[in-house]
Formats: sequence, C-alpha cells, structure tokens
Amino acid sequence: MMGDMHAVTREALGAALVGASLLVLACQENAVTASSAETRNRHAERARMVEQQIVARGIENAAVIAAMRRVPRHLFVSRSEASQAYEDHPLPIGYGQTISQPFIVAFMTEALDLDGSEKVLEIGTGSGYQAAVLGEVAGEVFTIEIVAPLAERARETLAGLGYDNVHVRAGDGYLGWPQEAPFDAVIVTAAPDHVPQPLIDQLAVGGRMIVPVGEDAQNLVLLRRTETGLEQEAVMPVRFVPMTGLVRTAEREPGD
Ligand SMILES: C[S@@+](CC[C@H](N)C(=O)[O-])C[C@H]1O[C@@H](n2cnc3c(N)ncnc32)[C@H](O)[C@@H]1O
Repeated sequence: MMGDMHAVTREALGAALVGASLLVLACQENAVTASSAETRNRHAERARMVEQQIVARGIENAAVIAAMRRVPRHLFVSRSEASQAYEDHPLPIGYGQTISQPFIVAFMTEALDLDGSEKVLEIGTGSGYQAAVLGEVAGEVFTIEIVAPLAERARETLAGLGYDNVHVRAGDGYLGWPQEAPFDAVIVTAAPDHVPQPLIDQLAVGGRMIVPVGEDAQNLVLLRRTETGLEQEAVMPVRFVPMTGLVRTAEREPGD
C-alpha cells in the first residue's frame, strides 16, 4: 500500500518533476510559489471531483475514496489537458488512447474488493493513472501496455510519484504476466470481444477479474474464480477502447 507519503508531498514532488522545464525559464522563487498555488488548486478540484462524481454516485469503499483523493490525476495527462483532469469524462493521452473517466476507475477498483495485500494485474496501462490508484489500495501491481511509448511514459510518471510497488511492462496483455501469476485480482481497461483465457488461468482461486467485454455494445463483467470454476455477472454497460493485438486472432473458448 502506498499510504506512507502525504498526498500533497507526493503531488508537489510530481508537479515539480512535470514542471521542470518551466522552472528553467522562471525565477526560482516565483516558480515555487506558482507551483504551490497550483498544487492547492488541484487538491481542491480533486476533492470536488471525489465528492460529486465518486461518493455521490455510490462508491463506498473508504480506501478507494482515499486513493481517488490522493492520486494527482492532472500529472497523468499532458499539460494542455491538465485543466480538465478532474472533469467527468475520459481524456486523450496520445496514440489514439484515453485515460478513463474517474468514476469508472473508482468503480472498477471497488469491484475488485481489495484489502491492501493483494497482487494485481492490470491490462492497459495507458497513462498509469488506474495503476497508481491500484498502487494505493493493493500490495503490488503489475501492468502491461501494448503501445511501448505509453508504457515508457507511464513508468516515468509512476516512478516520479514514488509508486515503487507498480511494475510496468510493454507488451500484449492478452497473454497476461505468467512469471508473476497467480494474481489475486485482474483488471482489464481495453475491451476484448471475449475474456482472454490466459487471464482466467492466471487468476488465483478466490480472485476477482473486472473486464469490459464486447465490440459496439460492451458490458463490464465481474468474474470470480471458485474452487470449481468461474462465476460471472454483467455489472454495467460501458464504452472502452478496443483491446488490440493477439485478441483479434485468438480463438474464443467454447461457450464464450
Ligand atoms: C482506456 S485506455 C487505459 C487507461 C488506463 N488504465 C489509464 O489509467 O490511463 C486502454 C489502454 O489499453 C491498451 N491496450 C489495448 N490493447 C492492449 C493489449 N492487448 N495489451 C495491453 N494493452 C492494451 C491501449 O493501448 C490503451 O493504452
């Protein structure tokens, strides 16, 4: 769990790293003052986002709410998008991809029912924001991104913010991360047209997976692995970017 560093401290550190080029141009005293004011404003915007978009819509898990209050979402998007970082919608992150809407991040994290000790696999690192939220509420996070420059950028952002319990790999997440399996929870943030069998195989007994499934019409599906098989339920209609790579050619399992 990443509860050891105070939110403002982590945010100020991240803002300082992201704003390094600005510091070169500005006189140091003014830059530091501007950066502190920006940090305070973002903190207020984020607190408002959590109250209006997360708590008001029924998210109850205290650890998830605290994580959403803590993670500086504006540092996971470009400077030109930062002013919209706490609004109620996804944002572009380049390469035709998006950072998910804050509510969806909170909803999917809550659905995993984590207690802080788990090993979690995420498919679709994107900006790294969801991985940071997971890093706050789980033990260790392994996250895979198919677009290599996005994986690299997310790795740098997460490292700059001190998330050393989040491990980023560039690659096709369809195959999961067998060397680190089994996982107590799996979260998929790009939509496959079927649940990838390797991800089911890498889910521990008793573990949960949340995954958007479908093409035009998608549903968020929650799976639980039991001693004898899998339980699954569709929990919400959603719209995610499609999963790419091997999923396009992989065989569906019978009954999928
Ligand atoms: C909606 S975005 C993810 C948002 C991300 N979780 C965040 O917090 O910013 C979906 C991501 O999944 C990635 N993706 C698509 N297919 C993938 C695959 N087969 N393996 C790994 N990543 C994949 C996309 O490149 C994209 O970055």
